[in-house]
Amino acid sequence: MNDTDKLRITRRDVLMSSAAVSVVIPIMSALPAEAQEASSSSRSSRMSVSFTVNGVNRDLDLDPRTTLLDSLREHLHLTGTKKGCDHGQCGACTVLVDGMRINSCLSLALMHEGDNITTIEGLGTPENLHPMQAAFIKHDGYQCGYCTPGQICSAVAVLKEIEADIPSHVSADVAAAPQVTNLEMRERMSGNICRCGAYSNIAEAMAEVAGTRS
Ligand code: FES
Ligand code: FES
Repeated sequence: MNDTDKLRITRRDVLMSSAAVSVVIPIMSALPAEAQEASSSSRSSRMSVSFTVNGVNRDLDLDPRTTLLDSLREHLHLTGTKKGCDHGQCGACTVLVDGMRINSCLSLALMHEGDNITTIEGLGTPENLHPMQAAFIKHDGYQCGYCTPGQICSAVAVLKEIEADIPSHVSADVAAAPQVTNLEMRERMSGNICRCGAYSNIAEAMAEVAGTRS
């Protein structure tokens, strides 16, 4: 076999491999996260984790790479928490962990052993809404609603951050107690993106709950 033949075979092999990969990747990405996990479980051992979600103790046996977001949505079927970017850029996946807001897509479930997690399902019920949920409805703080669970969880935590005197990037004096101003709330909510642009109404809902607007 001369060098030219070798080159021809190599190019054919490369093309065939590319065709195979181009078929397999779309099939894999079309599978839900739980199925993708199962398909690769032979390559990783599963680990157990226990945490409390909305007041209920949950014991899970997970692929160690499972994010908190996927554990909530795919394993516990709490689909109120949304997956937007899955890269920490939109805030749709915001939940409260021991009262602090986090992007659940950026956190591994195994890191939350013993934690107390609150999702939108745990904030209130249709019969007994959390004040922030009621204010969002009153002020039309949403349109399509996709970002809304994350916005509401974030808004609840933001008011607690201000109450706890935690400064933000726009706090005029970081040594002084921050005030519940429109600027403070908008800065603190800047990690929660709303493609429908409901920002002004969200700020009004938050102001009402904070007691600075009726
Ligand atoms: Fe987590 Fe966008 S889905 S920040
Ligand atoms: Fe549609 Fe925010 S209400 S993305």
